[in-house]
Amino acid sequence: MALLKILRYPDPRLHTVAKPVARVDEAIRRLAADMAETMYAAPGIGLAATQVDQHIRMILVDISEAKDHLRVFVNPEILVREGETEFEEGCLSVPGIYDKVTRAQRIRVRALDLEGKSFELDADGLLAICIQHELDHLDGKVFVEYLSRLKQSRIRQKLQKQAREAM
Ligand code: NI
Repeated sequence: MALLKILRYPDPRLHTVAKPVARVDEAIRRLAADMAETMYAAPGIGLAATQVDQHIRMILVDISEAKDHLRVFVNPEILVREGETEFEEGCLSVPGIYDKVTRAQRIRVRALDLEGKSFELDADGLLAICIQHELDHLDGKVFVEYLSRLKQSRIRQKLQKQAREAM
């Protein structure tokens, strides 16, 4: 296993639209294992392949306290969205920034597991929020894009300054 580098906003590669996974094979399982290690080390509760510069449709989520309930979604699709909820989100690609985003309260998602088998899951609350956030990454969208233009430009400036100072 290996730790992967997480792209940071405003890296333009975060706006890539990911392609569907054609076949769930050993390479996909290896990437999922590396992504899990990277997510837990960060630490974070979700990670999309886009964030590690792999532009395929796979996301990982683990919202458990004990970090022992990893969920992997390959080619995820949201079938049903219900209700509305607001939550202060953060993102491993936007370190140190938290802000409120409105999303569906409940969703039904369909995806493939790491054996290539199709499954459906009903999710609500934090799990539903996290899946929606990660799925946005696959469509090239970062959560700050839900915020005002003014906030977005402040966040961009702050992160660009941090990146310069880290060099
Ligand atoms: Ni994120």
